[in-house]
Amino acid sequence: MNNAYSPYSGIKVGAAVLDERLRVYTGCNIENGSYGLTICAERVAAAKAVSSGSKYFLYVLVVSNLEGFAYPCGACRQFLKEFSSENEDMKVVVVSNKGNTRVLKLSELLPNAFELRRID
Ligand code: THU
Repeated sequence: MNNAYSPYSGIKVGAAVLDERLRVYTGCNIENGSYGLTICAERVAAAKAVSSGSKYFLYVLVVSNLEGFAYPCGACRQFLKEFSSENEDMKVVVVSNKGNTRVLKLSELLPNAFELRRID
């Protein structure tokens, strides 16, 4: 979160992914002057994890400098769903700016998700 690059919104978001090997990958939001190219902290953390060899995430945690809890946006929910195990629903931990936490299942945040069968 402290590394957030958000000169346009001032919103700082940090995310951490815990993978099936119990390794942690972190990310922050990265904004762009063209706005639409902005990447959320969750997807940055997920990209770091997958490009380091992770296939499944057990947990994802999100924290921000906004009031209250910062929930992953719709695009991030679908992006994260790709890396949720079939038998172990990914847990999403949201942390408020006061340090309170809430733990949800990704399937609660994205019911009836679009899904394709993996061929490998
Ligand atoms: N943002 C995230 O990093 N994660 C989310 O799930 C929602 C939004 C960032 C992107 C942008 O820099 C700022 O918050 C405002 O949308």
